[in-house]
Amino acid sequence: MTAKGIENLLREDRLFPPTDEFTAQANAGAELYSEADEDFVGYWKRQALERITWFKEPTEGLDDSKAPFFKWFADGELNISYNCLDRHLESGGDKVAFHWVGEPGDTRDITYQELSDDVNRFANGLRSLGVEKGDRVAIYMGMVPELAVAMLACARIGAPHSVIFGGFSADSIIDRCRDAEAKMLITADGAWRRGGIVPLKDNCDEAMASTPSIEHCVVYERTKQGVPMKEDRDVWWHDLVADQSATCEPEVMAAEDLLYILYTSGTTAKPKGIMHTTGGYLTGAATTHSQVFDIKPDTDVYWCAADIGWVTGHTYIVYGPLANHTTSVMYEGTPDFPNKDRLWSIIEKYGVTILYTAPTAIRAFMKWGTEYPEMHDLSSLRLLGSVGEPINPAAWMWYYENIGGGTTPIVDTWWQTETGSIMISPLPGITTTKPGSATKALPGISAEVVDKDGVPVAPGGGGFLTMTQPWPSMLRSIYGDDERYVSTYWSQLPGRYWAGDGAKLDVDEYLWILGRIDDVMNISGHRISTMEVESALVSHPSVAESAVVGAADDLTGQAIVAFVTLMGGTESSDALNDELRKHVAKKIGPIAKPKSIIFTPDLPKTRSGKIMRRLLRDISEDRDLGDITTLANADIVAALAVQANEQRKED
Ligand code: PRX
Repeated sequence: MTAKGIENLLREDRLFPPTDEFTAQANAGAELYSEADEDFVGYWKRQALERITWFKEPTEGLDDSKAPFFKWFADGELNISYNCLDRHLESGGDKVAFHWVGEPGDTRDITYQELSDDVNRFANGLRSLGVEKGDRVAIYMGMVPELAVAMLACARIGAPHSVIFGGFSADSIIDRCRDAEAKMLITADGAWRRGGIVPLKDNCDEAMASTPSIEHCVVYERTKQGVPMKEDRDVWWHDLVADQSATCEPEVMAAEDLLYILYTSGTTAKPKGIMHTTGGYLTGAATTHSQVFDIKPDTDVYWCAADIGWVTGHTYIVYGPLANHTTSVMYEGTPDFPNKDRLWSIIEKYGVTILYTAPTAIRAFMKWGTEYPEMHDLSSLRLLGSVGEPINPAAWMWYYENIGGGTTPIVDTWWQTETGSIMISPLPGITTTKPGSATKALPGISAEVVDKDGVPVAPGGGGFLTMTQPWPSMLRSIYGDDERYVSTYWSQLPGRYWAGDGAKLDVDEYLWILGRIDDVMNISGHRISTMEVESALVSHPSVAESAVVGAADDLTGQAIVAFVTLMGGTESSDALNDELRKHVAKKIGPIAKPKSIIFTPDLPKTRSGKIMRRLLRDISEDRDLGDITTLANADIVAALAVQANEQRKED
């Protein structure tokens, strides 16, 4: 967030109160805040009992005896796939769970009954391959319904899943499968993206050479280009389910049994395996999905246009919507292929009522122009959502006017992989919104902006975003690394959850999230650590040293700028620049490709040898550099500033 950005926030005074009509029909009323304020554990327990069908109802609420290893509803027993499927079948098995839209134009309407049959067959298939309760299963697929089927089948038999975003590379699969010691890998031959095929199975083959724990690889046939299948290890999905029964008894899970691991970037090169458990996670997912999106299961057509490979898709495409018996849209591909009206044509076709997407997408829509949404009837929309990064007021207004027709409320939802579900957001029937502000913590969530000593800031002040109380869908730990869990989230300010974001509290006590304060960048709403990209760069034989920063970018929020020092004797060139960008894409995935690489004979360092990242950020964002005389190599800075300027002009 630039200084200019903060000033803009301060000047924002447009207010959007909910309409009387919306308020009159809204799921969530203002009384929830006072109920939760009085007794937040009791509030969450009520949600858990009302929204979940338990095999054994919990009597316990929060167990904080081993803080920060909190437990919620620990004596309860349930199965998540039962809650997402079985309990809906009697009264609503023929309701559509997913209207699925493939990139080449193929579509499928999958009912709850069909989804349940598919999940049960696949769960039996997994069991037939030896997957047992507690075994970790990695899933690396595109946006096909079978991705949701695979997750639910794992949940049914109690095997924690670890979904790996389909845009990641073979190396990223290796890191995650090794860390989780995954027993199985579920993938597809490929995925469609902008008319081309993402070679999912090829990437898995490359990865499996270095992941000895994987015993079997199940391959769903999507793109049909033909892929090698290794005997005894690889199994086609359709062969696996062909003779399976559509009945598979759900495993009885304790509330605190592991549901999934999802890897996210931290301040080191090693991604963190965020652990989510069963009862608390589902409580958070179902409650917030109903309250924030005001879901009416019988009439709404809801669309979270994220990828299931990120937490947004886990909670708001799969678990929350299905637990709430919602009809959703799910799509494969991108918003600009085959045309830039892709989203709007899908909304018109299915009469989508609720759309949830990211600021980076909204800014792209703005750039493409209003002609694309104007080609379609978007009048079915009644609520819009945003997630992943701060939404600038201009983008908020554009979304409101051009997609929402100047009438639909917008919920700007702040949360994280770690939080499991939405934490800070308007409630659409209650909250008066301000463009660019995520407004207030939800009922049962206690957000506080504090200074470096942990003292809450006064209205008008800024500081660090923390939580003062645990919540049901919170992460339980980092897989295999309890110490890192404690040091990352609970040690910066003892007794508080440390989100790693900066925030401002305005005079009305509205929260404005300013972005990451650590070495984690936010590229198109996705977290990538500077360290990850740096270690990818230095793994190239020509690179001696590198420093990576996130620089403000109009489209993607932040863009990756890499400063690179080459090995002695290596000359910089456009070809090497290109090669290094490709190298990072291969090591991590295309999303981590630096937007620009600046070659430099040296990096600015303090006299004790620390790289001055803040200075590099200032250089990348063209800010005044202030006093740099204390640096060991001050002359390098001026040269870098000139280079960065030239680079910007080229972009
Ligand atoms: O910096 C915040 C930003 O995204 C981070 C979490 O990223 P991730 O775990 O990948 O989850 C993204 C989707 C839930 C946060 O620490 N962020 C997320 N939502 C918002 C946001 N920043 C500002 N406003 C938001 N609404």
